Amino acid sequence: MLDPKRVADVREALTPWALSARRDLPWRRTRDPWAVLVSEVMLQQTQVARVIPKWADFLMAFPTVESCARAPQSSVVRLWEGLGYHRRAVSLHRAAQAVVSEFDGVFPRTLTELQRLPGIGPYTARAVLAFAFECDAAVVDTNVGRILARAVIGRKCSSSEAQSIADSLAPKAESWSWNQGLLDLGATVCTKQDPHCDACPLRSLCTWRSGGFGSADPAIGSAGVSGGQSRFAGSDRQGRGRLLAALRKGPVPIVDVMSVMGWPDDAERTNRVAQSLVLDGLARRGDQGYELS
Ligand code: ADE
Repeated sequence: MLDPKRVADVREALTPWALSARRDLPWRRTRDPWAVLVSEVMLQQTQVARVIPKWADFLMAFPTVESCARAPQSSVVRLWEGLGYHRRAVSLHRAAQAVVSEFDGVFPRTLTELQRLPGIGPYTARAVLAFAFECDAAVVDTNVGRILARAVIGRKCSSSEAQSIADSLAPKAESWSWNQGLLDLGATVCTKQDPHCDACPLRSLCTWRSGGFGSADPAIGSAGVSGGQSRFAGSDRQGRGRLLAALRKGPVPIVDVMSVMGWPDDAERTNRVAQSLVLDGLARRGDQGYELS
């Protein structure tokens, strides 16, 4: 538990900075839960600059949760092109269908109900609560986890610890601005590599800094802080991406799958990775070969 003085100091330092340094991002101009959900799902593993045009295109095609729920999954997956991690598109489509079938198209406003929707975990559920409904909720993703570990407690922290620290820091009725501020700080100042400590509003109270950065980076191994994405070139993900790109244009006959995936001599790898697309609900194997689900 953080002591109240510490909570007050962190709030006092971050609040004015959050206002002055706020990035003007398109999804911050809406409170539509569908538009917010789409942005948050896209931002999970994709950079802001890449998400901006894709978010606009996606909402142009599916302006409402109903329109997405009604659409065939293949059209949702097609629009995901360029964002990677296509499983997210399948989950988003299923979440849209669940909002329509279970909640009459009206987004639920509780953590429990939101987290029951496909693909929506603790971070995304809280992001919808804070960014669409302006409810009290504290988000913890990689960026926030890094700030908490480095500046606030100065040591590695587990997910549940990070969540309870984040909960105690977020000022009542200001979750929207507070969380956006933390995300901005993590993305632009308290970065994973080479943080810009001189520009940080928390520099005078940062535990890691006050110890002279003597310890290893406390963010490493902390809540929500992954080791980053693994190399794409030569990976299974690259083969998946190649097959998906081909499937968006039409079915791929079995005889072509090995070369399409870039592994003309590796039937075992081709089958295993193509099968993973089927298991993820992205593709199916028909008489013609593979096709988009
Ligand atoms: N990453 C996740 N959510 C975000 C948001 N609302 N703004 C900027 N980056 C984000």
